[in-house]
Amino acid sequence: MEDVCLVGFGAIGAIYAYALDRSSKVRVTAVCRSNYSTISENGLEIISDKVGRCSSWKPYRVVRAVEEAADRTYSFIICAMKCVPEILSTPTILGPILSKLTPDSETAFVLLQNGIGIEDDLQTYLNKKGLKTPILSGCCWIDTTAVNGGKTVTQYGTERLALGYHVPSVHEDSSNFSENLAKQKLDSLCNMLHSGGVTPEPVDDIDAARWRKVLWNASFSTICTLSRSTVGDVLAVPSAKLAIAQVMAEVLSVARATLPEKAAATLPDTVIKQIIDHENPGSTFKPSMLVDLEHGRPMEVEAIVGGVLKRASAVAVPTPRLDLIYAGLSVIQKGLLEHRQ
Ligand SMILES: NC(=O)c1ccc[n+]([C@@H]2O[C@H](COP(=O)([O-])OP(=O)(O)OC[C@H]3O[C@@H](n4cnc5c(N)ncnc54)[C@H](OP(=O)(O)O)[C@@H]3O)[C@@H](O)[C@H]2O)c1
Repeated sequence: MEDVCLVGFGAIGAIYAYALDRSSKVRVTAVCRSNYSTISENGLEIISDKVGRCSSWKPYRVVRAVEEAADRTYSFIICAMKCVPEILSTPTILGPILSKLTPDSETAFVLLQNGIGIEDDLQTYLNKKGLKTPILSGCCWIDTTAVNGGKTVTQYGTERLALGYHVPSVHEDSSNFSENLAKQKLDSLCNMLHSGGVTPEPVDDIDAARWRKVLWNASFSTICTLSRSTVGDVLAVPSAKLAIAQVMAEVLSVARATLPEKAAATLPDTVIKQIIDHENPGSTFKPSMLVDLEHGRPMEVEAIVGGVLKRASAVAVPTPRLDLIYAGLSVIQKGLLEHRQ
């Protein structure tokens, strides 16, 4: 049995923790926050097209805080909380676990979160400490939500998880990075997830997969959020539909300037039309950024938009439309963060 720690037991966390539990190869320790009492007392109901239905499911262990989870070593530490570094960085959240790692640890981190550059602060920490611990990075193509006050998680339609290992950038000290260990951990995680009934897809370049995903998030999610509208409502307004394509074109330019040539070639111009045409014009879908705003929760602005802009600045690619979007969302985010205090 392998021990896996999951930090962030929301919609994504629950689906993948449940899959790992079903694999019968894993004991999951779930760090819950606001849903601790609900899960520890009643368990979770899952209604999923992919992994089926269950009621009152509890992971092997439910704890309230990362400190409590740091009483043992883990094969994998999975982060499935929203990525909002404006509140807490990943190394800060994982502090009690990170402080127990040694150069011999066989642990890997797994980031199941949207965004660009979300691995950077954790990788910097690991480098500084001289640790070879690999970071696996995952892009979830899934639609899942925690509902009913966190008592139920629903998942409708298909599911796919592009998984790869993060390669430290050329600007970082990569002397401790062990590609062999990273590959071995990636294989092991994919096997366990596969036995649990989900669809992990190992990819050669996870950054390319992340850029492909952020094309949607940085355009549809942001414009739906700023206009407080569904995907269908945005597509129904020609100037808004045009703006979506123009923002995607900016993100695409940054992606191509950032990625190695081979990976950049996987993102041709036609990808923009493909993504837009794939949407149902009558879609009533609200991106999670908008849902967070409607609930007064901080949004993943830095991870999704700020991350693209940092890379744009590094490669000197202009992004005037995305800059404007970032400015608007940052004002809203400031209000959300102040309201939280
Ligand atoms: N849901 C989807 O369909 C989907 C699809 C693709 C990608 N994603 C990405 O997956 C990630 C997770 O999204 P989600 O939809 O699963 O979010 P979610 O349902 O809001 O769940 C996040 C969970 O993390 C917990 N959490 C936040 N900070 C924490 C901390 N410091 N320590 C412990 N727990 C913490 C939250 O607890 P509280 O309730 O206390 O805040 C919540 O239970 C995001 O990056 C999202 O963009 C989601």
